[in-house]
Formats: sequence, C-alpha cells, structure tokens
Amino acid sequence: MKRLTILGSTGSIGRNALRVIDAKPERFEVCYLTAGKNWQLLAEQVKKYNPKSVAIADSSQYSFVKDELQSLDIEILSGRESIIHISKKPDVDLVLNAIVGAPGLEPTYRCIEAGIDVALSNKESLVMAGELIMNLLEEHNVNLYPIDSEHSAIWQCLVGEKPESIKRIILTGSGGPFRTKPVEEFQYIKPEDALKHPTWNMGKKITVDSATMMNKGLEIIEARWLFNLPPEKIDVIIHPQSIIHSMVELIDGSVKAQLGLPDMKLPIQYALNYPERINVAWENIDFSKIGELNFEVPNFQKFPSIKLAYEALKRGGTAPAILNVVNESAVYAFLDNKIKFTDISTFVEKALSEIQIVDNPLLSDILELEKTGHEFVQSQIN
Ligand SMILES: NC(=O)c1ccc[n+]([C@@H]2O[C@H](COP(=O)([O-])OP(=O)(O)OC[C@H]3O[C@@H](n4cnc5c(N)ncnc54)[C@H](OP(=O)(O)O)[C@@H]3O)[C@@H](O)[C@H]2O)c1
Repeated sequence: MKRLTILGSTGSIGRNALRVIDAKPERFEVCYLTAGKNWQLLAEQVKKYNPKSVAIADSSQYSFVKDELQSLDIEILSGRESIIHISKKPDVDLVLNAIVGAPGLEPTYRCIEAGIDVALSNKESLVMAGELIMNLLEEHNVNLYPIDSEHSAIWQCLVGEKPESIKRIILTGSGGPFRTKPVEEFQYIKPEDALKHPTWNMGKKITVDSATMMNKGLEIIEARWLFNLPPEKIDVIIHPQSIIHSMVELIDGSVKAQLGLPDMKLPIQYALNYPERINVAWENIDFSKIGELNFEVPNFQKFPSIKLAYEALKRGGTAPAILNVVNESAVYAFLDNKIKFTDISTFVEKALSEIQIVDNPLLSDILELEKTGHEFVQSQIN
C-alpha cells in the first residue's frame, strides 16, 4: 500500500487524484491533505479518507474546519507554514503536489529535502527553481514524477531511450480558446471567455495561462529541467484535438508519441502507480470518432508568452521566476477585471527588462520574488 500526502487536494488535480485513488483504494492510504481556503470540501475529504492531519493555508478558514471536524480525532493546522510542515511529514511514500502557483514551490523543495518522492503537478516549482530542485533531487536521491500531461507523455516516450538518442522533444498544445480569434480582438477578451477551454477542464489560473499560451511557455521551462535539454531541443506544435500529449523525435528520425483522451486522471494514475500500469476502466479512446489530428505552428505574435518563456530560459538566473510570478499576479488581476487580457504578457515583458535578474539564486532569493511580482503588477495597475 502506498502512503500518500496530497497538497492541494481540493483543486482540479487534487480531486482527480482522489478519483484515481477511489478506483483502486486497496493500493493507497491517504495520510495527509491540504487546501488553500475551501474548508467545506477539505472537511468532506477528511470524513471520507480519514487522514492523520490536514492543513488549510488560509488561517481565516481554520475555525470552520475545526468546528466541522470536532468529533474526529485529527490534527488540524492552518497558515502557509502548516502546508510546508505537512509536505515534510516523513511517514509517507509519495507527496503529490497539486498546489497552484508560486505557493507550491517551497512545499516541493522541503519535501525533496526530507527525502520523500514527489509527484509534481505544480509546474511553477520547476519554472521558478528548476536548477535548485534538480540538484536537490540528486543530493537526496529522490524521484520526481511529472504529472503535467505533456511531460508525462515525454517521460513515457523516453522509456528505453538513451539521452544521446534524443534529437528534440515536441510539446503539443491545444492553442486554447483564442487560437483562431483575430489578434485585434484580444484586448476585449473577458475573464469568462478566457475560462472556456476547448478541451481541458482545469483550475482558473492554468485555464487563463492556456488562453495566453503562457502555459506552454511554463511547460518549455519545466521540460528543460525535467529532461535536461537545452531550449533549442524543445519545440512546440499546436494540436487542437489534444489527443497527442507530446512527442519525442530521435536521432534516426523516428518519432514516438503518447496518445490518450484529454483526461488528467491518466497522467496522475501513471505517476501514482509508477512503475506499474494499472487496469482501470476510464473512457477509452475511439479513433473513428476523433476522425483527424491536426497540427499548426504557434503564432508568436498572437501569443508572445511562448517567446518570453524561451527568452527567460535562455537568460537564466531568476528570469524564469520573474516571468512566473509576474504572470501569476497579472492573471489574478485579469480575473478580477483590473487589467486587460493583453496586459498579462505586456507586464511580463516589462518585468523581465525592469526587475533585476540574479544569477545563481538561492531558494530565499526566489521565494522573495513572489512579493516582488505582486508589487510590480500593482505598480503597473496604479
Ligand atoms: N488542472 C489541470 O488539468 C492541470 C494540468 C496540468 C498541470 N496542472 C498544474 O497543477 C497545479 C494545480 O492546478 P489546478 O488546476 O488543480 O488548480 P486549482 O483547481 O486552482 O487547485 C489549486 C489547489 O491549490 C490550493 N491552493 C491555492 N492557493 C494555495 C496556497 N496559497 N497555499 C496552499 N494551497 C493553495 C487550492 O485550494 P482551495 O481549493 O482550497 O482554494 C487547491 O487545492 C498547477 O500548478 C497547474 O499548473 C494542472
């Protein structure tokens, strides 16, 4: 039985992970759960999975969880530090980090430091601190299993291949809801339009990232660290059906692809059960219904975020972390109707030229940037 911690159990990935566990309950023990502020769902999950401890990041919600669970013998914690405390609990086999955004970085880091394997959905951890995390994994002899569908696909395609056989990897992207929208109309895009993703059902932040295509930018940076490849060997192709989740081209010209329906339960299940494959009856792919698979090159003019991510990656140091924190803060400002859709990438571009980039940063330098990014976006709004 695998003992699990799920950080961000109330989110889209967290809930899907619990469905994967429900399909094979004999394989898993849910030991610890955490949430941001959704105390009702956290309390429901506690009643169902009976973990040893839970934590809620937003301290103002603590009394609600406490009251709801008063009859149960369970440790209930709150505040940002409590999430980090739970991420380091040593009596588990695997931590699934499904927290959204920069608050996920320190839990990833502390969990690896504690010597615990991690299934990583929080892509922002690797975007902000990829080099530090990859070094830490080696130092502590810890495994990291990617949960992003593209990176899970590459991971599966690379089974049995030597690093020197890889010519390039090709990340696929649906193109989001505005793939065919004229660029002149982008400034009028409202949050409700950006939240309608054509193929994936996800949390709000990543859905907006998919609409700006910053999500693909973040994935390029994530892939650079996960697969130890230079930016020149990481390409992006638009594939609107989201059936091919990514591909690897080998030096002999052969291309390997991983296919499946757009359902995050598949990469989650692969990571949670690795190295085993599990026979579970999710919906099967029917190629006769899919009909055709299309591909097109990404339009960098319409979606400057992809180019910005390549540039930040090539610049190195804290540049990718700056890109991430400013993007994150700008996405929330857009969702609050404080800025335009097109401001998101404009702010990121401006931040990359105005905020000082630190070479060879420490974790503390990177963690401080969350506040810097927020202040930068506020100053632009003001
Ligand atoms: N959703 C997908 O299909 C998908 C696919 C690939 C990768 N990812 C990545 O997976 C991560 C999670 O995405 P998601 O779509 O599941 O997001 P989501 O639905 O917004 O869920 C985020 C989770 O993080 C918690 N959280 C929010 N702020 C927090 C904080 N400050 N401290 C601690 N916990 C906090 C939330 O708690 P509350 O619910 O209580 O607020 C929730 O449990 C992201 O990094 C995303 O890029 C997602």
